[in-house]
Amino acid sequence: ATPALVDRYGRVARDLRVSLTDRCNLRCEYCMPPEGFEWLPGADALSDDEVIRLVRVAVERLGIREIRFTGGEPLLRKGLERIIAATSALRTADGAAPETSLTTNGLGLERRVDGLVAAGLTRINVSLDSLDRETYAAMARRDRLADVLVALDAAHAAGLRPVKINAVLMRGRNEHEAPDLLDFALRKGFELRFIEQMPLGPPDSWARGGMVTAAEILASLTARFTLAETDARERGSAPAQRWDVAADGDRPGGSVGVIASVTQPFCGACDRTRLTADGQVRTCLFSRTETDLRGMLRSGADDAAVAEAWRTAMWGKLPGHGIDDPGFLQPERPMSAIGG
Ligand code: GTP
Ligand code: 5AD
Ligand code: SF4
Repeated sequence: ATPALVDRYGRVARDLRVSLTDRCNLRCEYCMPPEGFEWLPGADALSDDEVIRLVRVAVERLGIREIRFTGGEPLLRKGLERIIAATSALRTADGAAPETSLTTNGLGLERRVDGLVAAGLTRINVSLDSLDRETYAAMARRDRLADVLVALDAAHAAGLRPVKINAVLMRGRNEHEAPDLLDFALRKGFELRFIEQMPLGPPDSWARGGMVTAAEILASLTARFTLAETDARERGSAPAQRWDVAADGDRPGGSVGVIASVTQPFCGACDRTRLTADGQVRTCLFSRTETDLRGMLRSGADDAAVAEAWRTAMWGKLPGHGIDDPGFLQPERPMSAIGG
């Protein structure tokens, strides 16, 4: 059997998150400045074949069982279907197909979702911060709410389950919308998660005191819904803590999650490793260092050497994000470059 990808704190990485591009067609306030960032030059980004090779090394040699493609916006990548098909054709050392999932803003998903499912996509998470057209347009800086709603229905119709929704609440924008978002998700059969904003966007976009916390979100939900906490043992390494929501009249029950990365860090159970669009391994969103696998690929390294470099990187994984440490510094690269 292949040795697992482990760190010095005993955590095992089973989940690989791959950023396919740092670019995006939205400009969410918590993520990017209005003008965007300076994008990676095309030659720096991994080619489709390079992505496929690194994913194969991770699955065949490092014990990775789940691959999530993120960005930036992964649908901007023309080769996405091919990359997903190649990923889902891989087999782990014990013969299982890896789970292949996508985190997307949904723009343009409708016309591609059937092809993505045919290629082997098994799960999808779609970002939706507001159901109000003007609020959505103010937060994403683009008037594209209708596109996202169509995308969610298309994902559901294509048979993807669960269809998850990610919502980041921001003060003075959508902070009051938690109950409406949950009502919408329950009626449609989507699994909604609220995410505490993290310091990974444009400079000065985050302040601990200004962040809408998990406690506040729960308080606003319990005013309108009956919530029951799910068994903590079911959570495993999932970032979301979940609650069952009771049905009410014609409104079905379901569940809701909260990803409280800041007020209740889950770093101790983290099972992730990350690959940036330019082929750097990051062991954490908040790593201060990266390991250059692209350079290794382009200078002729073999798969065994690439796997070994990845193992060495993993051994240096930080115990936690350290957002509350006195000398905390936001990573040099924003989340859109690291991969969400
Ligand atoms: P599921 O497997 O569907 O639960 O995926 P997920 O929730 O891990 O992935 P998704 O891409 O939807 O991310 C949801 C939120 O969790 C985003 O804000 C991510 O940045 C955040 N997130 C994902 N992985 C990590 C992590 O390792 N640490 C922290 N702090 N946040 C993370
Ligand atoms: N903090 C928390 N979540 C964020 N996302 C993007 N930027 C941040 C941030 N600074 C979310 C997006 C998307 C997922 C990949 O991460 O809304 O759903
Ligand atoms: Fe794009 Fe996602 Fe960032 Fe929004 S959060 S600007 S959708 S990468």
